[in-house]
Amino acid sequence: MTEFNIAAQPISPQQREAEDALEATVLASFGNADNERLGFLMQSLTRHLHAFIREVRLTEDEWQAAIEFLTAAGNITDDKRQEFILLSDVLGASAQCISVNNQAYKGATEATVFGPFFVENAPHIELGGDIAGVASGLPCWVEGTVTDTDGAPLPGARIEVWEADDQGQYDVQYPDGRISGRAHLFSDAQGEFRFWGLTPTAYPIPHDGPVGLLLEAVGRSPVRAAHLHFMVSAEGMRTLVTHIFVRGDELLDKDSVFGVKQSLIKEFVEHAPGTATPDGRDLGDRAWTQTRFDIVLAPQGT
Ligand code: BEZ
Ligand code: FE
Repeated sequence: MTEFNIAAQPISPQQREAEDALEATVLASFGNADNERLGFLMQSLTRHLHAFIREVRLTEDEWQAAIEFLTAAGNITDDKRQEFILLSDVLGASAQCISVNNQAYKGATEATVFGPFFVENAPHIELGGDIAGVASGLPCWVEGTVTDTDGAPLPGARIEVWEADDQGQYDVQYPDGRISGRAHLFSDAQGEFRFWGLTPTAYPIPHDGPVGLLLEAVGRSPVRAAHLHFMVSAEGMRTLVTHIFVRGDELLDKDSVFGVKQSLIKEFVEHAPGTATPDGRDLGDRAWTQTRFDIVLAPQGT
């Protein structure tokens, strides 16, 4: 890559002094905030932002382009489309923030990005029920347990699941108001759960806006590795937001939002049409898959 570093463009001592002085003045301007945490955050942001501008010797045209990019992100954002979250996702900022705030605790299941497609009040299904509704795709039997880090079952854990159909679309991306490919269920007295979902399909994050243009400009794909979302909550436990991924998916190391973690990659066993299903359901001439996800929750406050 071409060397754009300042080391190649020496600046005079007077210029360095002027840049240092400006940065120090801005830092001081945030020094008296009533909210100390806010003052601390703004000072740190100032240090990093000024270091960036100075390191890359940012041109005024480049700064203007950045402002136009953020303006476009604001203009496309509404109550259904949140371009700034997408931006945070493709910068890896969402994944890093999750990492900082969900540190490893004993064997607790790892968290990953939330994404924009969770919907409150998704339908309730009984254990063994089907989340698909009108969503198309290869049926997938999902089963597992919810336990604490000592292995004790967590009965009554609330498990929210949501996923795209085999066209790579979530229900909320269709204009007809359908609710499909999502539901919630509760673990049983043994902490066990089971449901029918769809075998996950890879899909692109919304890329018809400024974030899509950015990805294109840098030669990156908007596609996410195939996954199934979970949000799991239980009394006294840290709420877990995560997904599971499909072992063997060739996109695992190219996920556009950096959400893949090795521990979340699961085997999805494929079954030919006519193979007996775990709950005796007759799928006719359809093939199906099967996976297992044992969920371990960390205690609240860890
Ligand atoms: C998702 O997995 O649903 C998602 C995550 C980040 C950006 C867009 C979609
Ligand atoms: Fe998703």
